[in-house]
Amino acid sequence: MTHLFDPLAIRDITFANRVFVSPMCEYSSTDGFASDWHFVHLGSRAVGGAGLVLTEATAVVPEGRISPQDLGIWKDDHIEQLARVVRFIHEQGSVAGMQLAHAGRKASTYAPWAGHGTVPESEGGWKNVVAPSAVAFADGYPMPRELSIEGIQNVVSAFAAAARRACEAGFRVIEVHAAHGYLLHEFLSPLSNQRTDAYGGSFENRTRILREIVAAVRGSWPEGAPLFVRISATDWIEGGWDIQQSVELARQLKELGTDLIDCSSGGNVPHAKVPVGAGYQTQFAEQIRREAEILTGAVGMITSPVQAEHILVTGQADAVIIARELLRDPYWPLRAARELGQPISWPVQYLRAAPEGSQARVPVDLKNLESCFEEQHAIPER
Ligand SMILES: Cc1cc2nc3c(=O)[nH]c(=O)nc-3n(C[C@H](O)[C@H](O)[C@H](O)COP(=O)(O)O)c2cc1C
Repeated sequence: MTHLFDPLAIRDITFANRVFVSPMCEYSSTDGFASDWHFVHLGSRAVGGAGLVLTEATAVVPEGRISPQDLGIWKDDHIEQLARVVRFIHEQGSVAGMQLAHAGRKASTYAPWAGHGTVPESEGGWKNVVAPSAVAFADGYPMPRELSIEGIQNVVSAFAAAARRACEAGFRVIEVHAAHGYLLHEFLSPLSNQRTDAYGGSFENRTRILREIVAAVRGSWPEGAPLFVRISATDWIEGGWDIQQSVELARQLKELGTDLIDCSSGGNVPHAKVPVGAGYQTQFAEQIRREAEILTGAVGMITSPVQAEHILVTGQADAVIIARELLRDPYWPLRAARELGQPISWPVQYLRAAPEGSQARVPVDLKNLESCFEEQHAIPER
């Protein structure tokens, strides 16, 4: 039986526990650079004891940002600020991971608190919004331009180059974002992909770009470091992407070196009826884990320690990936461990508040990966 606070080893990385911080856009960057906000926001959750802290969707090209304020990793200049955040996370005994993303037809839109729909160029938006097909997400969203074959290959290369930069910044996990109606999900789903070339039509064609990206990222990412993929396991709508296709995709991504599928859902059509409730997406993590025989993360409305523990003990997933509850309480893992009566290390500065017998935090053990990372600089030529 696996418990919430059991370590999880994937390749050469051992996560101290199975509480992972879900990627969350912070809309707090200028020109893609990490800011003090990222340092404190991500750092706090590492202090709180999560085993893995994932960054928000981080754009691999500037036109792949959801909003002008998104985090980015499309140029080497971004590395230094990110490296500062990474160092702090690792000092706290947590592992730093980066979610790599391209927003596709949902790019150049407002931060949720700033407006709705397309940001005009006068406010920092851009016209170069791309997608598999010229189909807009909804009223008020940009009409995307259909990506050419060359454009697709440039996206694949951009993911690989971004992984190489993430590696230089010190990240030890990459998560490819293929969920929530962003570019890669748009390719997967027949609702947004109407292409008639090698990237549209059949299941094999619709999944091709994601398979190419996973292969390219794996090629520019150290052998010993984990690679995750986040998918929307279903579009929640007849005729769309569904769980059976997700299982088959997971099998194929595993063959290409993916270690864990982060099982989310929805986001590709505005009118889907999503039965939101406690743990409403956990069923997908369970089915993909069982049928594709790959590690999975459960995400969505996981809020209580007992609920999280139940998901693991019953073998529905290998980790719980938590978003909003970790905004409400960045120290949720410390609290959960107390409630479940399981030992967890505390920052040495806070030990006087810890349950009796608690150990002091030690930096995460990155084993022999340092030298492995130093050797890894090649960006695959295309
Ligand atoms: C503020 C906020 C920002 C988010 N940004 C991202 C993101 O950058 N990438 C992503 O895959 N999901 C993003 N999500 C979705 C979450 O990662 C998570 O899948 C979702 O909130 C459900 O989990 P929860 O019920 O624990 O919040 C975001 C959610 C929130 C609340």
